[in-house]
Amino acid sequence: MNALVLYDSLGGNTEKVARRIHDTLTAGGVASELIKVAEDTELDMYAYDILCLGSPVIAWGPTNNMRDFVMKKLRAYHKDHIKPSAPLRPGKFAISFCTYSGTHIGEMEATPLTKWFSAFTAHLGCQILGEWNVVGEFHNMEDVNVNGRLGDIRGRPNDADLLEIENRVKGLLAGIAAWKG
Ligand SMILES: Cc1cc2nc3c(=O)[nH]c(=O)nc-3n(C[C@H](O)[C@H](O)[C@H](O)COP(=O)(O)O)c2cc1C
Repeated sequence: MNALVLYDSLGGNTEKVARRIHDTLTAGGVASELIKVAEDTELDMYAYDILCLGSPVIAWGPTNNMRDFVMKKLRAYHKDHIKPSAPLRPGKFAISFCTYSGTHIGEMEATPLTKWFSAFTAHLGCQILGEWNVVGEFHNMEDVNVNGRLGDIRGRPNDADLLEIENRVKGLLAGIAAWKG
């Protein structure tokens, strides 16, 4: 089984989460690739069994590089891969993740982004296994990090946040192994 952990990160928070997902997949025997999206990123999304896509929340959406990549792939696959009703491809799974600060309206700032990722991977026929909204401090914004809707988020994602991600990945791998029998 193989996996792609494709992410963007402007200040390092989302990279920490992406790396923990990748490391846990690797430790679990999955051939995982960890790639930071760039303007010239070119990948075959159908070449992987598990797609993990993540970005920091930027105004309730992805980064520009991630948006451009996803829209480019969507246009390309619409030609002859994406069918009406988007039939499930058995054995193809996806995880959507983001980091966010939730300063004004809490987790509602993050859910549009992970839903957006899931809409993309569901178009490809993946079964969505998780939508993980991970709290991340707002870089260089001390006031915001203490007085936002989520309270004191300094230092997030912290060790506990990353351990939770690790455990979630382990749980999903156990579920896939049980499904495979
Ligand atoms: C330009 C900019 C816009 C942001 N917009 C939002 C937002 O709308 N909602 C939110 O919850 N967090 C927002 N954030 C906070 C980031 O999502 C958060 O700090 C994230 O963990 C950063 O991840 P990174 O270090 O991987 O870039 C914004 C950050 C920046 C720099």
